[in-house]
Amino acid sequence: MKDAFGLPQSLLVLGGTSGIALATARRLIVRRTRTVWLAGRPSPALESAAAELRTLGADVHTVPFDALDPESHETVLGKVFAEGDVDAVLLAFGVLGDQANDERDPAAAVRVAQTNYTGAVSAGLVAARALQTQGHGSLVVLSSVAGGRARRSNFIYGSSKAGLDAFAQGLGDALHGTGVHVMVVRPGFVRTKMTDGLPEAPLATTPEAVATAVELGLRRRSETVWVPGVLRVVMSALRHTPRGLFRRLPI
Ligand SMILES: NC(=O)c1ccc[n+]([C@@H]2O[C@H](COP(=O)([O-])OP(=O)(O)OC[C@H]3O[C@@H](n4cnc5c(N)ncnc54)[C@H](OP(=O)(O)O)[C@@H]3O)[C@@H](O)[C@H]2O)c1
Repeated sequence: MKDAFGLPQSLLVLGGTSGIALATARRLIVRRTRTVWLAGRPSPALESAAAELRTLGADVHTVPFDALDPESHETVLGKVFAEGDVDAVLLAFGVLGDQANDERDPAAAVRVAQTNYTGAVSAGLVAARALQTQGHGSLVVLSSVAGGRARRSNFIYGSSKAGLDAFAQGLGDALHGTGVHVMVVRPGFVRTKMTDGLPEAPLATTPEAVATAVELGLRRRSETVWVPGVLRVVMSALRHTPRGLFRRLPI
C-alpha cells in the first residue's frame, strides 16, 4: 500500500534500464519504496541496475519484458502482480529512433511506433486492469513534449508520443473513481542514454529533476506533470503558433 504521503512501497518499472526510471526508483527508495521490479529486455545493464538499487536497501527483482511482444504482456505482468500488490507502475520504455534513417526505412519507423505506442497500449491496459483488480495504485506514463506538436526534425517519435499521451489521458479518465490513478509525465529534453550525443535543447533537464517531479505528482495525485514546469506554458504557445511560422522555428 502507498504510505500516508501517497508514495509507493512497491514499484514496477517497465523499461528497467531507463535513466529516468532509475533516477525515479532511487528517489522513491530513499523515501519509502521497499520492493522494485525492473522489467526489461534481459541484459547486463538490467542486472547491474538491479544490483545498484539493492545497495540502497530495496528488494529488487528483474523480469524479462519486451514492448515489441504484446502477446507476452499479460503473462509477464501477471507474474509480478501475483507476487503481491504493486503500488505504482512506471511505464518508461521507449526509443527515439533515427528520424532521417526512419523516413527512408518504413519498417524502422514502424518499430518506433510499435515500441512507443502499441507496446504501451498493450502494457498500459494490462497494468491498468491489474491495478484495478487490486483496487489501488498509480500508473505513471512517460510521455514527452514531443507529442504536443509534431516537429519536422522528429515527427515519427513525436507522433508515437502523441498517441501514447492521448491513450494515457483517456485511460486516466476511464479509471477515474476506481482508486487507480494515471499520471502523464511530459518531460522536455532530458540528458540520458536516449539523448546521448544530441545537441542539447533549450530548457534541458536531468533524470533527477524528472524523478523529483514524479514524486511530487504522486504525492498530489496529479494527472499531468511537465518537466520543467515552464514547458506547460511554452507548449501552450507552440501549439497555437501558425503552421507557416512553426515550420521556420529552429526546434
Ligand atoms: N530523454 C529524454 O529527453 C526524454 C524526454 C521525454 C520523454 N522521454 C521518455 O522517457 C522514457 C525513458 O527514456 P530515457 O530518457 O530514460 O531513455 P533510456 O535511458 O534510453 O531508456 C529507454 C528504455 O526503454 C527500453 N526499451 C526500448 N525498447 C524496448 C523494448 N522493445 N522493450 C522493452 N524495453 C525497451 C530500454 O531498454 P534496453 O536497455 O533494453 O534498451 C530502456 O530501458 C521514454 O519513454 C522516453 O521516450 C525521454
